[in-house]
Amino acid sequence: MESMKIRLDFNNMLTEFVGSDGISIADVDRLAGKIKAATQAMEQKRSQMAWRDLPHNQANVVADILAYAAEMRPKIKALVVFGIGGSALGPIAVQQAIHSPFYNLSEKFRNGGPQLFVADNIDPTTIGQLLELVDLRDTLFSVVSKSGSTSETMAQFMIIKDILERELGDAAKDHIVCTTDRKNGNLIKIAQTEGYKTFYIPAGVGGRFSQLCPVGLLPAAFCGIDIEQLLAGAAYMDDICKNEDIWQNPAYIYAILHYIAMKNGKNISVMMPYADSLKYISDWYAQLWAESLGKKYNNNGNVVNVGQTPVKALGVTDQHSQVQLYMEGPYDKVMVFVGVDGFARDVPIPKSFGDIPSVGFLGGHSLSALLLAEQAATEYALQQSGRMNMTITLPMVNEHTIGQILYMLEVATAYAGELLNIDAFDQPGVEAGKDATYAYFGRPGYEEKKAEMDAQPKKNPKYII
Ligand code: PA5
Repeated sequence: MESMKIRLDFNNMLTEFVGSDGISIADVDRLAGKIKAATQAMEQKRSQMAWRDLPHNQANVVADILAYAAEMRPKIKALVVFGIGGSALGPIAVQQAIHSPFYNLSEKFRNGGPQLFVADNIDPTTIGQLLELVDLRDTLFSVVSKSGSTSETMAQFMIIKDILERELGDAAKDHIVCTTDRKNGNLIKIAQTEGYKTFYIPAGVGGRFSQLCPVGLLPAAFCGIDIEQLLAGAAYMDDICKNEDIWQNPAYIYAILHYIAMKNGKNISVMMPYADSLKYISDWYAQLWAESLGKKYNNNGNVVNVGQTPVKALGVTDQHSQVQLYMEGPYDKVMVFVGVDGFARDVPIPKSFGDIPSVGFLGGHSLSALLLAEQAATEYALQQSGRMNMTITLPMVNEHTIGQILYMLEVATAYAGELLNIDAFDQPGVEAGKDATYAYFGRPGYEEKKAEMDAQPKKNPKYII
């Protein structure tokens, strides 16, 4: 598997390469005590991080998912996932990584799999059109919510349950599958009462760390993605991430360099994949990094207001927009490129326009060569202008390498949380928004919150023009 190992190149984070704005080996050495404590904490708390066991303890779950997918695939043409945040971004990222961007448009690319729609918003136009697009009789709706109480997902569920029951009667229940907590929340109770097929999100696996449990595995298996290889890649990375030598542990060094950068005022983390297939890895990462590390309080209860704002970019597309800022704007960012050694296919650029050298020079190369050259050129230009950047390279995009990168970034996030001395696994800010929605909509038990909201100063119409 060595040939499939993903690589982290952090040369351009260091002063040797980017000058005074970079990080020196001495900067890292000065943190030795903190690093030792964080490394120990990762080991001591491992049993509390149930997501770290997902690559190892799911043989039965995988068998159940594969059996269910095998039974259902011939019966359906579309799979619609209702979920939000951690219940949606992983499935989208993995689907886009492994399959063609044209998967939904072409039976050839689907190879017997259903169309996949991940409805992670409640825009009524989109949901209305989606429900018009699919044929209920051959569509499976997968409702995913760890808490079983997220307003958006539960509203989607209520809508589809009602429509299915009106249209299909008793058969409605065969068109709904639920993924939720085994014991807690309303969704599990409803699923049991209604007799829906159910998969479980293990205790201790939070939304944004749940891609490698049924949240992500179920839609992936339906679409023909090799979920055993996904888990094998994560397990392989888990082994690498056990290395206590931080210089050999990509997750730890990733976190340490970002931590030092944050301390030096780099408040923005830009992830810029150079492959369409990896575009949504940066969406998934943006949630992971932002929701885990953006915290008001540290573990001692002090106000710290830490975090790094994630920005999503795409190479080469955003070379023609955002890169101007990254090259010449404030020194407040760390760039993370995600590249590949090779693409699944290539397109040659024909030799032509020999009489116009400024166009003709492109001929005889290929699109992959052009893209890789542009990635190298951007890294070089940033390094030349003293901008910190690092690159994660996948030998190729497949289930194994995607499992590796997801797991590596999860461990990096947890480790960064340790360095920052914050709880990377809670999300009080997100919960506050959920609570305010409950209060707005008159959910019983939220009367006090509603009164508090009603008592806020009314907006001044003078400032609405
Ligand atoms: O990471 C998280 O915890 C959140 O993003 C959740 O995934 C998101 O709020 C959805 O929650 P739930 O799965 O409970 O519906």
